[in-house]
Amino acid sequence: MKGIILAGGLGKRLYPLTKISNKHLLPVYNKPMIYYPIQTLVDAGIKDILVVTGGNHAGEFLRLLGNGHQFGLKHINYTYQEGEGGIAQALGLAEHFADNGKVVVILGDNIIEEDIKKAVEDFKKQPAGAKILIKKVPDPERFGVVEFGRRGRISKIVEKPKKPKSDFIVTGIYMYDNKVFDIIKTLKPSGRGELEITDVNNAYLEKRELTFSVLKGWWTDSGTFDSLLRATNLVAKKLKKIKN
Ligand code: DAU
Repeated sequence: MKGIILAGGLGKRLYPLTKISNKHLLPVYNKPMIYYPIQTLVDAGIKDILVVTGGNHAGEFLRLLGNGHQFGLKHINYTYQEGEGGIAQALGLAEHFADNGKVVVILGDNIIEEDIKKAVEDFKKQPAGAKILIKKVPDPERFGVVEFGRRGRISKIVEKPKKPKSDFIVTGIYMYDNKVFDIIKTLKPSGRGELEITDVNNAYLEKRELTFSVLKGWWTDSGTFDSLLRATNLVAKKLKKIKN
């Protein structure tokens, strides 16, 4: 399966850190942010990777990552998203790369403790549709929130609700079959002017083709001052634990 890292957008929530740099090049403890999602894909056995960049200093990704030798890769593919049209718009740019196959998608600011190998293996066996990884968090209103219906099934995903109906959120790790690109073409921009990945996931849900599993270990995004600090602290703690 191929992997796609979405590292577009303008990182406005981290301004002025992102005024003259790219969010995904900022440090998270001892590495640039983008290293973490790449490592997550590599650890899941994914070797064919596309990085969708955008905003400032997109060229620096090439200088930093090259062909990905430091991750044991032979080659990394790159593409560029103009502006900040949303996560689903950025994913739409990967249609040619996906070449009708299934893909694992990870947001460039998502950092995890453990690996996603099992979920990826399960999705390989899933005949069609999509799979999301969800996680219980203390601040669900910042994310795509999962609502549950009968028998623990997901009934709906709501993007950044003021009053979340559960503590479970959709992390930025998604797996899709090739229908995702047709779904993206039907989307309309949301209130915040973006093509929302939550609308994509709800489209799969309506077809009854969305599966999920709960991500093990800690998970965090790193796109705000607080979550960037949290990510740094969590990574530092993890590395110190490995050393001792
Ligand atoms: O982190 C998980 C959350 O990510 C989900 O729970 C939400 O459902 C999903 O909408 C998203 O929420 P955010 O509002 O936090 O996403 P943000 O705009 O911060 O973008 C996250 C990453 O996605 C960013 O680091 C790069 C990529 N992205 C984002 C935008 C808006 C793009 O590649 N292009 C874009 O236009």
